[in-house]
Amino acid sequence: MKGIILSGGSGSRLHPITKATSKQLIPVYDKPMIYYTISTFIEGGIKDILIITNKEYLPIYKKILKNGHDFGVKISYEIQQKPNGIAEAFLIGKNFIKKDEVCLILGDNIFYGQDIKFIFKNSYQNLNNNIASIVGKEVSNFNMYGVAHLDKRNKLLKIIEKPKKKYSKIAITGLYFYPNDVVHKALSLKPSKRNELEITDLNNIYIKEKRMDLYVLKKESAWFDMGTHESLLEASMYIAAIEKRQNQKIGCLEEIALANQFIGIKKFNQLVKMLPNCSYKDYLINIIKK
Ligand code: G1P
Repeated sequence: MKGIILSGGSGSRLHPITKATSKQLIPVYDKPMIYYTISTFIEGGIKDILIITNKEYLPIYKKILKNGHDFGVKISYEIQQKPNGIAEAFLIGKNFIKKDEVCLILGDNIFYGQDIKFIFKNSYQNLNNNIASIVGKEVSNFNMYGVAHLDKRNKLLKIIEKPKKKYSKIAITGLYFYPNDVVHKALSLKPSKRNELEITDLNNIYIKEKRMDLYVLKKESAWFDMGTHESLLEASMYIAAIEKRQNQKIGCLEEIALANQFIGIKKFNQLVKMLPNCSYKDYLINIIKK
């Protein structure tokens, strides 16, 4: 399965932070935001990754991540000219996806919890049956997201984008899994009122075809969408608290790549050596000692 990280957009809601940089590169506690999405892919076993970003910021992504080999993945890059909507990722990524299945993650979404590995396993199984998967999470501010409209038996009827009325408390997160026909379906989409190719329209096609599975994240698992200054701060504080309490980093690419055998101990040691003296390096040195 291929993986796409959508890191485009103008980040207008986070101005002036995003005046001179891409939203997905700003720090979430102790790492650039993009580290967390890449680590989710590594945990899920995805090795072939496409990052879609703006032309302006492409050189910075390349400087930070290069071709991904340091973390045992292969990273390619494509440009999104304008924020034309999330579903445009499948049109931009057409030549990258080729005949494969694809997982899309929004670059400003952070996931943390025991069920991440299960989500990927479950989605792989669904894809074997030609079924797409999405991930939900119970939230209080449902009108900021795509929301699941469920029947009495909790069957998914439709997704409503930023509803005024409360259809359910289940927000649809920015982690999506699709069979290869997603490219063909994305081609058929028409721009919405806000002139974007909507991921919700695409998901509703799969729901109509009875080819969509919704997995709802456990209560103890965390999901952050960093669209506002508040959520960015909340995510940073959450990560800082967990890292301090458990003495374990979240989204530490070197560590996750080693744990998932994407890189070996030799490569890990080389990466650690190259780091300047900092607490991040101390943490990695401790892993070697352990
Ligand atoms: C997008 C999707 C929405 C989803 C959200 C998750 O919203 O349109 O359905 O719930 O991402 O982060 P946007 O960030 O474009 O407002």
